[in-house]
Amino acid sequence: MMKQEWHIQDAKPAVEVKRPMIKIRNLKKAFGDNTVLNGFDLDLFEGENLVVMGKSGTGKSVMIKCLVGLIEPDSGSIEVMGKNIVKLNQVELDDLRTDIGFLFQGSALYDSMTVRENLEFPLRRHKKRYAENFDTTELVTKTLNSVGLAHTIDLMPSELSGGMKRRIALARTLILKPKIILYDEPTSGLDPITSKEIVELMRNVQREYKTSALIITHDVDCARVVSERMILLVDGVNYAEGTFAELSKSEDEKIRAFFK
Ligand SMILES: Nc1ncnc2c1ncn2[C@@H]1O[C@H](COP(=O)(O)OP(=O)(O)OP(=O)(O)O)[C@@H](O)[C@H]1O
Ligand SMILES: [Mg+2]
Repeated sequence: MMKQEWHIQDAKPAVEVKRPMIKIRNLKKAFGDNTVLNGFDLDLFEGENLVVMGKSGTGKSVMIKCLVGLIEPDSGSIEVMGKNIVKLNQVELDDLRTDIGFLFQGSALYDSMTVRENLEFPLRRHKKRYAENFDTTELVTKTLNSVGLAHTIDLMPSELSGGMKRRIALARTLILKPKIILYDEPTSGLDPITSKEIVELMRNVQREYKTSALIITHDVDCARVVSERMILLVDGVNYAEGTFAELSKSEDEKIRAFFK
């Protein structure tokens, strides 16, 4: 073999190309004269946890709702795994949503269903993925195990603590093996110890399920532990981007306000 050929075969790209899972460009949304998003950009790359922080009412939840087609943006583009969300019909949107897990603010369990039934619910909704006689027990148990709550399978939500409910809600999302997870305030309303458990769980989920996650949070500890990268949202636009370490030592007054 000629030396030159050998080199070609052995060559690796100088820069590893990361696959974008979500790409938002110049996203704008106003409600009447309330301009909420005013040219927001975001890239979520495969395998990373990206945190978005912004003051209450700056449009973080609106942005996440635009992402899954629940709110129609005024302008801008949103690509999720290469597909332009705004142009999809309902069937295509439903199909894409199967690959996206949500843990939304106040994500509620169905109170009249056991933990097992709560986890089976999304499986039934996405029936075409599973055979008619598919035995869910193994999958439900395995998924509960990954949030450390296999023993709660036959309990009712009313028998669970707030932190446990949040873990079950996460399990209900994980059971469909999403490629992307959207977390909207995953630790809100939880005490510091329970918050810490959820944050650690989010890291485990990233490792075990190889997910890419967009995490919206006010919780500085959460951002520090889970994020590979962060975007700070101010007045509807990206004010700053970087790692937690970079941003948290910034001298900029507006950036410092996020880390108080
Ligand atoms: N469906 C809607 N109709 C009209 N206004 C809306 C609607 N949804 C959100 N808004 C407005 O958009 C702005 C941003 O709301 P959003 O819920 O995105 O804030 P947020 O950044 O998620 O805040 P928080 O941190 O409190 O959750 C608010 O002024 C809100 O009143
Ligand atoms: Mg919100």
